[in-house]
Amino acid sequence: MAKPLNIGMIGYGFMGRTHSNAYAKVNHFFDLEYKPVLKACCARKEDKIKAFAENWGYESYETDWRRLIERDDIDVIDIGSPNNTHHEIALAAAKAGKMILCEKPLAMTNTEAEEMVEAVEKAGVPNMVWYNYRRVPAISLAKQIVDEGRVGKTFHYRATYLQDWTIASDVPQGGAALWRLDAKVAGSGVTGDLLAHSIDTAEWLNGPIARVSAATETFVKERKHAETGEVTPVTIDDACMFLAIFENGSMGTFESTRYARGRKNYNTFEMNGEKGSVFFDLEDPHILQYFKYADPNSDAKVEDHLTGWQRIHVTNFEHPYMDKWWVPGCTIGYEHTFINAVADFLKGLETGEAVQPDFKCALHTQKVCDAVLKSARTKEWVEI
Ligand SMILES: NC(=O)c1ccc[n+]([C@@H]2O[C@H](COP(=O)([O-])OP(=O)(O)OC[C@H]3O[C@@H](n4cnc5c(N)ncnc54)[C@H](O)[C@@H]3O)[C@@H](O)[C@H]2O)c1
Repeated sequence: MAKPLNIGMIGYGFMGRTHSNAYAKVNHFFDLEYKPVLKACCARKEDKIKAFAENWGYESYETDWRRLIERDDIDVIDIGSPNNTHHEIALAAAKAGKMILCEKPLAMTNTEAEEMVEAVEKAGVPNMVWYNYRRVPAISLAKQIVDEGRVGKTFHYRATYLQDWTIASDVPQGGAALWRLDAKVAGSGVTGDLLAHSIDTAEWLNGPIARVSAATETFVKERKHAETGEVTPVTIDDACMFLAIFENGSMGTFESTRYARGRKNYNTFEMNGEKGSVFFDLEDPHILQYFKYADPNSDAKVEDHLTGWQRIHVTNFEHPYMDKWWVPGCTIGYEHTFINAVADFLKGLETGEAVQPDFKCALHTQKVCDAVLKSARTKEWVEI
């Protein structure tokens, strides 16, 4: 009989739904000692959170996250609310001895993130940040290929994260989902929202970034605020590009925007090394492209006319996570990355091995984001 793990979910929006779905499904597919129980969910508007609780099968709901944290029957606080709430909630949850799963970016600033790391370490509570793209099987396979030494010494890392949903100047800022355009709530624009994902993946695959040089742009200068109706200056970065030097000496380029007409969630990376390369595109999520270099002077027979990139359909049982899902050739989707993440978190509780990325790991991503924004302001290279 699985041990129950009582979840207290904060937020019923995009992430409230992906996380609730993950808790509900994980034990059907993964063999685990722990079983999440949808104990309570929380948001400020009672009618909305009540409807959410009923729809997803939560046993109860709260309208104040402080009350949720006070409850003795909650084991895990899941922070799925906007970025400006993460710090305060995490500090209180750690103090109350709760396990914490926090959405990305970890915090609004470095200082906040440092305090959050200190809080969970002092409390000794298991913690994880939802950088879910690590759990796309094709990205996990890229990590396996890198760890097996098949890319070798890295020369280049190239990432893009492109969307197009804020091009119209009448898209308001503030309020549900649109808080992303309001720097007071989001902290930053595409840097914290999109590039944080690219940075997490990059550092996971290629090690820490040592220094950056960045430029940002805000294309629409003023927008109406959805909650107040006031037209106010837009202070987020609509687009950001930066150069990076990794600690291993390789060079990186990162580009992100919400103004790439036609691009919806174009999250790509390519890594070029001495022995090979890998390429991934989230709009083709079950494919990992891999190029293997064959040394013409080696003893191995080289068939030059067959040299080229392989498109690996990452659905075989031997691919990461895929033995838990369907049969080879059948794909999984976006929601499964959250299910895979919960499974890893629960496995970590079983084994006692901290699951990654934890708060400490996400602090480094935060530091890179802060350095990128600082570099864009000062127009200078910034060391991490
Ligand atoms: N991992 C990912 O790929 C991914 C994707 C999207 C969003 N996110 C992150 O998830 C978080 C939430 O984003 P979203 O897209 O779900 O936003 P959303 O606007 O869809 O939902 C936010 C939810 O938080 C609730 N909320 C706001 N303030 C609150 C408060 N003070 N107390 C309780 N509830 C409160 C809102 O009612 C809403 O239900 C953000 O940090 C965001 O960066 C991560």
